[in-house]
Amino acid sequence: MKAFPAEFDSLLTERAHALLKTPSAAGAMQAPGKTPIAVFANVMARSRAAACVKLLDRAMRGALRRMRTPIPRETITGMRENYAELLPKTMRVQTADLNSRRSRAAAAAERIGLLRLMSSQSLRKLAETVTGLSLAPNPDRQVILYEPGDYSGPHNDHHPEEPCARDGYVDVHIYFSTPAVKNQLLVYEERGCLTEAVDVSTPSGLAVYRLPFWHYTTPLLAKGTSQRAANRWVLLSSYDIDR
Ligand SMILES: [Fe+2]
Repeated sequence: MKAFPAEFDSLLTERAHALLKTPSAAGAMQAPGKTPIAVFANVMARSRAAACVKLLDRAMRGALRRMRTPIPRETITGMRENYAELLPKTMRVQTADLNSRRSRAAAAAERIGLLRLMSSQSLRKLAETVTGLSLAPNPDRQVILYEPGDYSGPHNDHHPEEPCARDGYVDVHIYFSTPAVKNQLLVYEERGCLTEAVDVSTPSGLAVYRLPFWHYTTPLLAKGTSQRAANRWVLLSSYDIDR
């Protein structure tokens, strides 16, 4: 595969294609009182997912930057009151923002058809079906790579300073894991407790979130000795809700 197809839905298996159009998919995150997230595992053939990883690896790896936000030591040394600890957003990933056309990462993504795929009509339509919302075209786009030990700490993705996002927005994650990945979980809140966990380390998958809510991803674990080959790629498209 030299480039991604123009439309996201042409990457899907027949089964996933059908599933994502059914009322159960549509109802997956619209139940009242439930956290609005839906995760669909193995939506592509394994060989297709492997080809996507190969393409991302070749074209995007060199354009990523490391993002390491450790826990500030002062969260402990500066504490004066028992049980008053607060954890800021911490993470360790590699990422590239694809929104500035002039960036090296966006140019690389453009060359392999990634920008087009991530703003394709079929991806937006699918997110509309699953969320039951009308979504604005032209999503913000970002690529994330998790290697062994990489994680995103608890955060809620609330953006109260942005008029388009302060009342909520929709994120779609298309993801791929190499066979050397043993496990990575997405943990999220349900009725105020971080009790829900879903395995997002399947060869391919799709997650649709109506944010904000609290969530985190656990450190990526590799199988045995295959540390370097354990990679999880996430393609993230963020949509404003058409109100
Ligand atoms: Fe997040």
